Amino acid sequence: MSHAPMIEIKDIVKDYVNGDETTHVLKGVSFSIKKGEFVAIMGPSGSGKSTLMHIIGALDVSTSGSYTLDGQDVSSLEPDELARIRKQKIGFVFQAFHLLPRATVLRNVELPLIYSGIDREERARRAGEALIAAGLDESRHEHLSNQLSGGQMQRVAIARALVNDPAIILADEPTGNLDSKTGDLVLDTFQALHRQGRTVVLITHEPYVASHAERTLLVRDGLIVEDRLNTDKVTHGP
Ligand SMILES: Nc1ncnc2c1ncn2[C@@H]1O[C@H](COP(=O)(O)OP(=O)(O)O)[C@@H](O)[C@H]1O
Ligand SMILES: [Mg+2]
Repeated sequence: MSHAPMIEIKDIVKDYVNGDETTHVLKGVSFSIKKGEFVAIMGPSGSGKSTLMHIIGALDVSTSGSYTLDGQDVSSLEPDELARIRKQKIGFVFQAFHLLPRATVLRNVELPLIYSGIDREERARRAGEALIAAGLDESRHEHLSNQLSGGQMQRVAIARALVNDPAIILADEPTGNLDSKTGDLVLDTFQALHRQGRTVVLITHEPYVASHAERTLLVRDGLIVEDRLNTDKVTHGP
């Protein structure tokens, strides 16, 4: 693993103001994640995980504090600049897979590349590679996405997140809609991506899910209260 930081967050505060009421959600959060790390952000409901994920994912900015992603300061960008960073640097995986149901698997994964103006042949090649990296066999690439199992759908969503070669994969409760067996297959997929050298950030409320990462940041009431290595899970890239 390289020692270069991928994510550096310092003293992040996030307040929501509604009328004359202010809610202090993040109260001074600091941590850094190195390139190639696989980190879980875990905490109970209401602790501030989604708020933190929106900041890490460049969907929102903090009230104060600094955030550097892949060497670039993204603390106080305007919405259109945030959108550009998001497209270039972040591969999102959500609890609900958000696939186009009547499009093929390959087509779903090609979509982000269509918007980037990449030609047809190159798109198909890259989408095929991303699907293989996400553990979906070539025999399924021409299936319609609504013919797949939940676990397979989530692997298509992971491939779609990978296809632009993002700096980080950011997954919010990615096993939340899956039974435990298919959830395990998806967690295996994230571990495989980690072994391939990807930086993976996994948001969850479940200790079992978090235990698949090599490190867990525990969030409680808007603060990181623990930062621990899951020593039995530390793996090294090639
Ligand atoms: N837009 C908002 N305005 C006011 N309070 C909010 C807003 N978004 C979230 N909160 C509050 O911030 C806290 C943390 O929410 P959230 O980040 O969604 O936590 P988690 O994802 O860990 O469940 C909760 O108490 C929630 O009610
Ligand atoms: Mg949440």
